[in-house]
Parts: sequence; C-alpha cells; structure tokens
Amino acid sequence: MPRHPGRFITFEGTEGAGKSTLIGKVRERLEIRGVRPVVTREPGGSPVAEKLRSLILGEAMDPRAELFLYEAARAEHLARTVVPALEGGRWVICDRFTDSTLAYQGMARGLPWNEVRAANRLATRGLSPDLTVFLDVDPGVGLGRSTDPNRFEREGLAFQREVRKGFLKARKEGARRWLTLKPGKATPEALAEAVIKELERRKWLPPARR
Ligand code: TYD
Repeated sequence: MPRHPGRFITFEGTEGAGKSTLIGKVRERLEIRGVRPVVTREPGGSPVAEKLRSLILGEAMDPRAELFLYEAARAEHLARTVVPALEGGRWVICDRFTDSTLAYQGMARGLPWNEVRAANRLATRGLSPDLTVFLDVDPGVGLGRSTDPNRFEREGLAFQREVRKGFLKARKEGARRWLTLKPGKATPEALAEAVIKELERRKWLPPARR
C-alpha cells in the first residue's frame, strides 16, 4: 500500500505505443467513477521541468548530461506537482517516469544500470509508482506511427529494441507494480477497461456493475 493517501500511476512504453490515447481514456473512465486525477508527464509537469524538457528534447548531448537533466526535471516535477497532489489525496497519472530512465539512459544509452537506479532514487527520494502500466508493442510497429519524431524516435529500430529490453529488465526487478498490456488489435477502449479492472482488482476502485 502506498505511503500517501493518493494513488500514483505511471504509463510506460516504447515510442508510438499509444500511451497518450490510453491515458486520455483512463482519465475519462476514472472521472465517471468520481476520481479526478492529476494528469502529468515527464520530462515536464512543472514550469522548470517544462523548460528542461525543451532543452533535453531539443539537442543531442552527452548521455550523462542527459541523465542528470531528466533527474533534475524529475526532482522539480515531484516537488511542485506530484508529491503535493498525492499528499492531498489526489490520484496522479504520469506519462513516463523512472522506468523510462532505466530503459533509455540505462539500457539503450548503456549507462551503468545500478547507477541509473541510484540517480532515480536520489531524484525521487525513493517514491515509486503504485502501479506502472506498460504498453508492450513491437518497436517496429510503434516507430512507424509518429508523424513528428523527436530525437529518440530518430535513433531507429535497434535503439528502440534496447529500450524495450530495458523495460523488461525493470519489470523483472519490480514485477508487482507492473501491468503489461499488449495492444495488438485491442482498441484504446478495451485497453482502458483492462486498466480499470486492475484498479478494481487492487481494490482502489469499488467493483462496477457492468
Ligand atoms: P515525448 O515526445 O513525450 O515522447 P513519448 O510521446 O514517446 O513519451 O518525449 C519524451 C522522450 O524522452 C521519449 O523519447 C523518451 C525520453 N525519456 C528518456 O529518455 N528518459 C526519461 O527518463 C524520460 C522520462 C523520457
């Protein structure tokens, strides 16, 4: 059980997995059930963190510099947005979080895994998501979807495969908080329903009459 009254749910996946659409649908369903979540994203989610976001996504840089900028944005985002919301009893839905750092900077950029873990811990003070929804798509399928690729999407397929490997390794290390969805041909509605069912299974939402 979380150490705060709210619930902290992160969404992760490789590029083009459909996270944003799913987050929108889950939010709608939660609102129908009387939960008004704070929806946020990383990098970003607070004024300083959004400035760091443009810096990070705008320019190629040394992988260690990249790591520390993500962590700087994260510390700021947590302090200003996430922690106050959770402590106030709100649910927080976050598009990407520490598992992205393990997958991208740890696995795909090749920085030492345990040191990336330690950097995450420093930035978050040990706050971990209560649930992580992982959209597991074939990186080949996801990459084709983006109309405006950022510099990570332009890294190509081999990089995205490493990213996926990173997510799978992160999942192994903390399996209980992970819900893996394989979109395949499932509609965003069906995926959102699967998330809601998981929340009911965990008794965070009362069962609904269907
Ligand atoms: P964004 O355009 O939001 O991508 P997406 O829609 O796929 O989430 O850009 C965020 C990018 O930052 C994305 O390519 C993944 C990357 N990223 C990291 O490399 N490390 C991190 O810790 C985080 C949070 C994101």
